Amino acid sequence: MKPALLEVMRMNRICRMVLATCLGSFILVIFYFQIMRRNPFGVDICCRKGSRSPLQELYNPTQLELSNTAVLHQMRRDQVTDTCRANSALSRKRRVLTPNDLKHLVVDEDHELIYCYVPKVACTNWKRLMMVLSGRGKYSDPMEIPANEAHVAANLKTLNQYSIPEINHRLKSYMKFLFVREPFERLVSAYRNKFTQKYNTSFHKRYGTKIIRRQRKNATQEALRRGDDVRFEEFVAYLIDPHTQREEPFNEHWQTVHSLCHPCHIHYDLVGKYETLEEDSNYVLRLAGVGSYLKFPTYAKSTRTTDEMTTEFFQNISSEHQTQLYEVYKLDFLMFNYSVPSYLKLE
Ligand SMILES: *[C@@H]1O[C@H](CO)[C@@H](O)[C@H](O)[C@H]1NC(C)=O
Ligand SMILES: *[C@@H]1O[C@H](CO)[C@@H](O)[C@H](O)[C@H]1NC(C)=O
Ligand SMILES: *[C@@H]1O[C@H](CO)[C@@H](O)[C@H](O)[C@H]1NC(C)=O
Ligand SMILES: *[C@@H]1O[C@H](CO)[C@@H](O)[C@H](O)[C@H]1NC(C)=O
Repeated sequence: MKPALLEVMRMNRICRMVLATCLGSFILVIFYFQIMRRNPFGVDICCRKGSRSPLQELYNPTQLELSNTAVLHQMRRDQVTDTCRANSALSRKRRVLTPNDLKHLVVDEDHELIYCYVPKVACTNWKRLMMVLSGRGKYSDPMEIPANEAHVAANLKTLNQYSIPEINHRLKSYMKFLFVREPFERLVSAYRNKFTQKYNTSFHKRYGTKIIRRQRKNATQEALRRGDDVRFEEFVAYLIDPHTQREEPFNEHWQTVHSLCHPCHIHYDLVGKYETLEEDSNYVLRLAGVGSYLKFPTYAKSTRTTDEMTTEFFQNISSEHQTQLYEVYKLDFLMFNYSVPSYLKLE
């Protein structure tokens, strides 16, 4: 602040007579130096309001190096639109969204963003980022937010909490994005996380006991009571069983992306992919005007479910069940341009 004070003293001498002007200069100089101190490159980080919105930046990029990325994302959007069109021609089912369909859409009013969260696709880290973005300075480092706190519903505002006109306004003017992942890799990740780890017994009780009761012949009383040793084959049998979805919607950890985020009804401006997670995430942050000080957290990838792991899990699944399972997740495969996995033996 020293140069700022000198500057002010100099100005004070010059315009001692015009007190009001001096006061104005003083405030301007302080403001200028504060901005320069926080942001020496002069990039606009303090006030997104009044500058270009993420939507404008996405569809009409001013930064030349973002233009190629914009083309890639146009292709991804087209793929979703084309799949939806082809599918609606086939199914002819028409449905209107209700506020209850908008529970997964997290809103950040300050940066005009809407993020549809999909479990098992880096959603903890993206919820942390949304807390930083909408927290008005409450948090600065996403990783200082404990994972369980990122999943407390009250910490984030979702679109279903607004009135209908407010919902429509936000759907029209905010940048809507989601992150997707290869559907079977996501499924194996959900299975490993919920059924092969001992720490969360609520999933074992809620789903494990039911899966074993339905899918395992000669299950022991112990297994029926605990529900903690569900095999992947049994999990798959449960998913393709027509009873399951008739009874209640899938749990969000294995629900299809198109059922969670409704991409045929809500036009997503940006489809991020788990396969290019950091790149796509940092692109979103740049469009939101915060890329210079907020980056997607990098983290250890050692326990991540990989393609090789997924291949191994599917080796034990009969081709009949593989085919039925593919049908359940087919729209997600098509919409987000994932090819049929080479390890599948489809009938
Ligand atoms: C779909 O994936 C293929 C192969 O990975 C790629 O060549 C193509 O550009 C992708 N298309 C879209 C719309 O992303
Ligand atoms: C366990 O799962 C339940 C149900 O989804 C969830 O509410 C709870 O937060 C989870 N607990 C832990 C420790 O992950
Ligand atoms: C179930 O247990 C009985 C008695 O132990 C056995 O005879 C039968 O083969 C078992 N059935 C299956 C499907 O494992
Ligand atoms: C596949 O089945 C075999 C025999 O039942 C079992 O030992 C193995 O653990 C299974 N593999 C996976 C990945 O579930």
